Amino acid sequence: MKNNNIVFIGFMGVGKGTVARALVKCSSYFAVDTDDLIESLENRSVKKIFKKNGEKYFRDLEKKCAIWCENNLTNTIISTGGGFYKQENINDIGTVIYLQSDFDRIIEALKAAPNSKKKFKKRPLLKDLTEAKKLYDQRVKEYEKVANITVNVEDWDINRITKEILQKVGYYYDS
Ligand code: S3P
Repeated sequence: MKNNNIVFIGFMGVGKGTVARALVKCSSYFAVDTDDLIESLENRSVKKIFKKNGEKYFRDLEKKCAIWCENNLTNTIISTGGGFYKQENINDIGTVIYLQSDFDRIIEALKAAPNSKKKFKKRPLLKDLTEAKKLYDQRVKEYEKVANITVNVEDWDINRITKEILQKVGYYYDS
């Protein structure tokens, strides 16, 4: 892979950012998050961007961000928003890893999180869980198609998950 980047894709709340941060601790990768990059660029939250300018505007920002990632990042783990997988150049950014989990498990984990309210509030597309489930069903096959590697994260054993990822991307892992 030309840039030696890892790109995490997967549904909202599956833990892309958390896994990225755990990987940084046991490797020499840096980590960035596309939603964070967009929020810095716009100097406002994803929630506000959706509310004021709508989803299409946000998707255009994701596109801009995808091009920037391809042109500027190396040795970086990139956690992405749940819809970022649609970017045309995603496979040119790095090795795409799909973090997979059952929909109900994702929602249960979000509900059980200490900052649960905030986690739901910041995600406009999780407001209506019936609609979110439809989106999940629609996206699952697409995530699989785009991904080079799929890692199931349902057991949420972070040590196993990080080890599996590093092994699968061929990173020397001294355990
Ligand atoms: C979205 C996921 C969100 C964020 C935005 C849209 C989506 O990121 O990019 O609310 O389309 O699935 P997370 O996957 O980090 O929640």
